[in-house]
Order: sequence, then C-alpha cells, then structure tokens
Amino acid sequence: MPTAPLALIAELTHRCPLRCVYCSNPLELRARSEELSTETWVRAFEEAAQLGTLHVHLTGGEPLARSDLTPLVLAARSAGLYTNLITSGIGLNEKRLSSLVEAGLDHIQLSFQDAEESSANTIAGCSAHAQKVAVARLISETRLAFTVNLVVHRRNLDRLEEIISFAERLRPHRIEIAHVQYYGWALRNREALLPTLDQVQESVAVVERAKERLKGIKIDFVTPDYYAAFPKPCMGGWARLLMVVDPSGKALPCHAAGVIPGLKFENVKEKSLRWIWEESSSFRRFRGEDWMPEPCRTCERRTQDFGGCRCQAFLVTGDAAATDPVCSLSPHRHLIEAVLERINLSPLAGDIGSSAEPGAGNVKALDTDLALRQRWAYRTNPAGVWERPEL
Ligand code: SF4
Ligand code: FES
Repeated sequence: MPTAPLALIAELTHRCPLRCVYCSNPLELRARSEELSTETWVRAFEEAAQLGTLHVHLTGGEPLARSDLTPLVLAARSAGLYTNLITSGIGLNEKRLSSLVEAGLDHIQLSFQDAEESSANTIAGCSAHAQKVAVARLISETRLAFTVNLVVHRRNLDRLEEIISFAERLRPHRIEIAHVQYYGWALRNREALLPTLDQVQESVAVVERAKERLKGIKIDFVTPDYYAAFPKPCMGGWARLLMVVDPSGKALPCHAAGVIPGLKFENVKEKSLRWIWEESSSFRRFRGEDWMPEPCRTCERRTQDFGGCRCQAFLVTGDAAATDPVCSLSPHRHLIEAVLERINLSPLAGDIGSSAEPGAGNVKALDTDLALRQRWAYRTNPAGVWERPEL
C-alpha cells in the first residue's frame, strides 16, 4: 500500500478576479454550478486526515471567492490538518482575515505579479496590485506564517532585484520566487514567457546575493526546468506525496493530469479519498517505477526525480509515459532545445503591452511565431466571458 499523501491540494473554485497569463489552471475551467458543497469538502478534509494527510492547501482560482471559506478552514483545522491559504488577496479585508485566523488558519501565501504596479496589473489582467499590498500589511500584523509568492518570467526577470526588495518590505517569513511552469495558460503563452539563458543566469546570481543579505527571510527559488539538465521531481512523484481535488470533486494526482488522455478520474462525491489514493487506476498509472521506459528504468536518478513530469511528457512529446523531455538523457530533448533556440536567437525587444481582451489569441497549437509572442492569451471564466466574481 502507498503511504498516505502528505498534503491535499483543494482547488475550491476556478473563479478568480484575476486572469493571469500564466495561470496553471486548466484551459477548461470548472463552472460555479459544478463546485462541491461545503458538506462534501468537510467530508473530504475528514477523510484526508483519517488517511494520514497532514496539510491542506486551499487554493483555486481564488479561494476567497467561496463565501464558506471560513467554515472550510475551521473544518480542516478541526480535522487536524495544517491549513495553508494560497491567494491573490483580492476579497480579503481586516474582518475576513480575522475570521480566518480565529478559525485556525496557519499559513498564507500571497502572490504578486511584479513590484511595479502597471506591469503587475498587465500580467494579472486587472487592477489588483495596490489591493494586494494593502492585504500584505494586514497579514503581517497577524500570527499567521506568511509567504510572499513571486512569479517570474521573461517580462519581469530583469527586475528581480527590485522585486525581491519590494517583497522584503512586505515583512514575510518566506519569499518563494518561482518561475512560470509551462502548463495550462502558461503553456499557451510559453513563447512570451520563457526567459533567455542570460536572464536565467543573472537571476540565479541575484537570488544568491539576496539570500546573503536577507538572513531573517527564507528564500526559495524555482528556475525554469527547460534550462535544467535533469527534470524536477514533479509533485514529488506521481501519486506519492500529493493529491489534488478540483472544484467539481475530481481527484487528480496533479493539477494538470486532466490533459493526459485515457485516465479515469474518480470523484470524491462517489468514492472515498482512501480508495482513490490506494486503488484508483489514475493514481496507480504512473506510481512507482514499473511504468518507466529507458533511459529512466535503469537510471540512478529515478529515485530522485521519478522520471520527471508526466504532463510535460505528454504536452511536449504526445506520450505521457515518455521520459520527461527536459531531461538531457531523453530522446525527445531536441524538442525543448528547439524552443530554447527560438527564444535565445530572437528575444523580444523590451516589454510589449498586452492585447488585453479576455481570451485573446485562441491558440490551439503551441505558439511558435514571433507575432504570437507579442500578445497574451488571458484565461477566461468557464462561460468564456470575463466577469468579476462576487466576493
Ligand atoms: Fe530522471 Fe529519467 Fe532523466 Fe534519469 S533518465 S535523470 S530518471 S528523467
Ligand atoms: Fe502532472 Fe507534472 S504536472 S505530473
């Protein structure tokens, strides 16, 4: 039997007041009418705790779009789970924050798109930056453990030093600087987001200097795996540490697994979390090493990176069981090299504005053309029309 998942990633909703161009949510977003009830989430949290899970990450979309967020935090905490809220902060005020703290929330991760307001708002597709700064001040005055999430890419990486200084002034305990990962909307916008090699190398030096300077704040840094020699151990290995439940109750081994054809995902409305984790075919499909092809099957790194990412393997090679193509040992590495060559031989000049219409650039295949690199595709709401949700 597999050991229990360390954490449950609860995607409470896909509704969100932001529409970031690198959103990791799937292109097919779940509608509000499909969302799980409070009672079903509470049962899922209890089942997770009984299974031996320690953490719940409450995420979305924007989890604050759920009016029952406080009771959900209370239920998760009462079940014995460590509760982490991953949020844009939009919809959080002093009163709501106090109620979340009283309900037992342990940790909050607040995301920023940039240090510079107009650039941050362009990426987010709405005016959110000033509100986020105000929310950060409120959070820093509570007992909550506080992480500032900074998402970096080719359009803001040259300002990383300034962005880290900005984050430092928000008084977090930890700063997580994560490069965009190429799934969902980010894959659609990959050609406009992937940095050059020079940018990546300079950013590593900037982060090293910041770590030296900021002794009191922990800094975690995730570089783009396209430039790595070996892949990331995605999700800590398929169905090994983490379990995702989407807003409609579908349980997935990772947030992007829905892109892989042929997998059947069970719903927490119909099956217990324990059965899904231990028995379901989708969780068992790439668990362990039996599924691995060469070169992974005999590679000494297979217990460290678990063959990389199944979703990336599918999205780039068309075969979810292939070695992750970012691996330098993969027979498909040339597909990644071709992307890097395009990016590094013809980098975009300066910061290009957005076309800003919701859903602009309905690109079906991966963008390969410079013109497409100069406009964004923004995520849309499930109805295909952008509306601000009621918060
Ligand atoms: Fe990891 Fe497979 Fe590459 Fe080895 S061959 S480093 S196990 S992805
Ligand atoms: Fe699905 Fe990596 S995102 S396995």
